[in-house]
Amino acid sequence: MRIVLVGPPGAGKGTQATRLAEKLSIPHISTGDLFRANISQQTELGKLAKSYMDAGNLVPDEVTIAMAKDRMEQPDAENGFLLDGFPRNVSQAEALDELLTAEDMELDAVLDLEAPEGEVVKRIAGRRICRKDSSHVFHVTYGPPKQEGVCDTCGGELYQRDDDSEDTVRRRLEVYHTQTEPIIDYYKAQGLVVTISAVGAVDEVTGRALEALKREGDGK
Ligand code: AP5
Ligand code: ZN
Repeated sequence: MRIVLVGPPGAGKGTQATRLAEKLSIPHISTGDLFRANISQQTELGKLAKSYMDAGNLVPDEVTIAMAKDRMEQPDAENGFLLDGFPRNVSQAEALDELLTAEDMELDAVLDLEAPEGEVVKRIAGRRICRKDSSHVFHVTYGPPKQEGVCDTCGGELYQRDDDSEDTVRRRLEVYHTQTEPIIDYYKAQGLVVTISAVGAVDEVTGRALEALKREGDGK
């Protein structure tokens, strides 16, 4: 399956993507995680991305699309993938369509995670991520690690993301509404959007997502 996950910052895209990718046996491709890996390895791309991310703005399309394309061309993505955080504006969505068309492929579904602003702000405020791998995500009250400050998965140190400060979160939400939400209409026109509520326990949301994807698959 080829799936795009969309939703506001803090909706639980990363949390759900990890679980869905495992259940569906497809790789989880997160442009946010790819940028954070570049930042921790201090690459040129990481330095460039950090300046945009810390301000809550989108990293320029040219570098983002090239990075996503490169990742989607890896052998593990041949039979499908779950995109988390990409595309994030209409021009990235058009670029993705072009890439897929060139390979004679198409998307199966766009899963839209809906969550109210008050909830996502609470989720972001309590989020802690792993220094070794930013896809290892915890929450101080909703999903705390067994040992405070230590990643359950790999033992890495947990910390708060630089872009999770109050001001930056406000800007990220604004960018989501103005630049990312329009891709939902773009994909609705292609009949690909399935919307679910991202409110509730993590497992409950995963169940809802799997059911919605199955319904979408059966309907084709
Ligand atoms: P990115 O890393 O993609 O961040 P985001 O979209 O803002 O989303 P988040 O990672 O904040 O939230 P999430 O929805 O994954 O929630 P999570 O599962 O962690 O992007 C960061 C930046 O990179 C961008 O601002 C931009 O600068 C740049 N970038 C990335 N992609 C780009 C692109 N394509 N183009 C240009 N720039 C790009 O959950 C949040 C918290 O809630 C966690 O603590 C979790 O434990 C908890 N939680 C999750 N589910 C539940 C639940 N059901 N109940 C209670 N708590 C829950
Ligand atoms: Zn870890």
